[in-house]
Amino acid sequence: MLLTVACCRFASSTASSTGPLRVCVIGSGPAGFYTAHQLVKRIDDVHVDILDKFPVPFGLVRFGVAPDHPEIKNCINQFTVLARKEQCRFIGNVGLGQDVGLAQLRPHYHAVVLAYGAEEDKELGIPGEDTPGVYSARSFVGWYNGLPEHRQLDPDLSGEVGVVIGHGNVALDVARMLLTPVSRLKTTDMCTHAIEALARSRVKQVRLVGRRGPLQVAFTIKELREMTKLPHCSTLIDPSYFHSIKSLLSELPRPRRRITELMLSVAENRYDYRGDKRPAGGKEWGLSFLRSPVEIVSSPTTGRLDSLRLEINKLQGTWDSAKVVPTGEFEDMECDLAIRSIGYKTVRVGRDVPCDPVTGIVPNVAGRVLDRNKSYIRGLYCSGWVKTGPVGVILTTMNKAYETAEVIQEDFRSGTLPEPERGDILEKLNNELGVDTVSFSDWENIDRHEVREGEKKGKPREKIVDLTQMMDIVHKSR
Ligand SMILES: Cc1cc2nc3c(=O)[nH]c(=O)nc-3n(C[C@H](O)[C@H](O)[C@H](O)COP(=O)(O)OP(=O)(O)OC[C@H]3O[C@@H](n4cnc5c(N)ncnc54)[C@H](O)[C@@H]3O)c2cc1C
Ligand SMILES: NC(=O)c1ccc[n+]([C@@H]2O[C@H](COP(=O)([O-])OP(=O)(O)OC[C@H]3O[C@@H](n4cnc5c(N)ncnc54)[C@H](OP(=O)(O)O)[C@@H]3O)[C@@H](O)[C@H]2O)c1
Repeated sequence: MLLTVACCRFASSTASSTGPLRVCVIGSGPAGFYTAHQLVKRIDDVHVDILDKFPVPFGLVRFGVAPDHPEIKNCINQFTVLARKEQCRFIGNVGLGQDVGLAQLRPHYHAVVLAYGAEEDKELGIPGEDTPGVYSARSFVGWYNGLPEHRQLDPDLSGEVGVVIGHGNVALDVARMLLTPVSRLKTTDMCTHAIEALARSRVKQVRLVGRRGPLQVAFTIKELREMTKLPHCSTLIDPSYFHSIKSLLSELPRPRRRITELMLSVAENRYDYRGDKRPAGGKEWGLSFLRSPVEIVSSPTTGRLDSLRLEINKLQGTWDSAKVVPTGEFEDMECDLAIRSIGYKTVRVGRDVPCDPVTGIVPNVAGRVLDRNKSYIRGLYCSGWVKTGPVGVILTTMNKAYETAEVIQEDFRSGTLPEPERGDILEKLNNELGVDTVSFSDWENIDRHEVREGEKKGKPREKIVDLTQMMDIVHKSR
């Protein structure tokens, strides 16, 4: 009901447009670029500025996607073509909420699109979470992928047993990086500091602990299959988890059935759970189900991570919606390294940026941003993980970005966008606010430098992980 009222209020506003439609997209990840791409494709006279807090573009395509999955990064080629077009301009090194506020940006544009992703990770909220030896997947991924804030993480890989908490694709990425032979990683764009640390790593076993069962895993079959094929690495899954599931297989939707069949076949055939086929000296990984961490226990002598206290769960309900019911029984899982991989989190980037206080998501309907009264805010939109929460692969993000572009186009056509009151934002950023902005050709100079450094080591690139060094290259190349 509230929304209907809001729509009426929205539709009654008018704005006549002269000159190009001016749009500002905040965030240069897949959401930002795909929204811009669709706007440029759909609207003849449009100009899109894509702002990012980093001097380098592409968000999680650079800082998230695993180094051994270079094909996933091919979308960068499409983004580059777009960024070089006249209708589009990348403005890097500008943080919303840090360098410029939303209220300062909006008068320069007909529409502003929030696409700043999910910049934090969820926490378990259990005792001991900050124990030395415990890391978030976001920081671990950021460390091997060159995210400036995590470049110095230097995780302790001196023990043999690692646990990853969570059964999503990020958890599999992290486990795969820990267990893949370094000879393979050396030819990827993984940062050299991480390759060197992984070469020294003594981690031999990685256990992925999930709070629900085999029918609720969030990872996908391609990524699971890849894990089962890791060289010199066995897969350990207890087949007893599947006893009650086998009879349900034919009822499952196809993707769920196929992934369950794969886990089952691995559990029954590929490895003897009792351990008598375990290859000597090899590595292993496995899945544990129905376990929720309730405490991270440290050694009384060293203060370092000693074990995870897990509560055993049962499930109530079926399929994806099955709920965890704690049984009151506990077990301890000894480990030397623990990585929490239970999802990312969208955070508020400024007091004037609408944000759900619990989820961090920008309240919206199909990408049109809502205020506290659930009325549309004219000319304000969102796209990507700020719109949906931190779930979905790049393809999902692309489809949702297209939806946002479509509603912007609709609102433009119906004359409901506010008319810009001010001129080019670049002048304000550079001259008034003193921001050292980075253009796309500046990024291309950083890019060339990274590729050159990579070539010397037989890698696609050696990422620069220090912001000052990035800016030095920008200044020297101008
Ligand atoms: C570890 C990991 C691996 C993944 N691997 C895959 C994969 O292999 N295949 C796949 O299809 N999907 C993968 N995904 C999912 C995919 O990365 C997401 O669907 C997609 O990146 C979401 O796009 P986004 O633009 O919303 O967010 P992001 O990619 O996070 O982009 C957000 C952008 O906003 C910028 N930003 C943040 N705050 C501000 C601010 N205050 N001001 C200005 N700019 C800001 C950031 O610097 C960033 O460039 C992976 C996700 C993760 C976490
Ligand atoms: N190769 C790829 O295509 C690729 C690679 C990486 C990421 N991605 C995508 O990026 C998105 C994010 O991935 P993600 O792995 O971060 O998130 P995710 O897919 O949402 O998985 C999160 C996992 O953490 C568990 N979890 C959440 N809260 C928990 C808690 N409090 N205690 C214990 N476990 C908890 C979830 O279990 P419940 O189900 O019980 O909540 C789930 O197993 C996904 O869409 C993913 O597919 C894709």
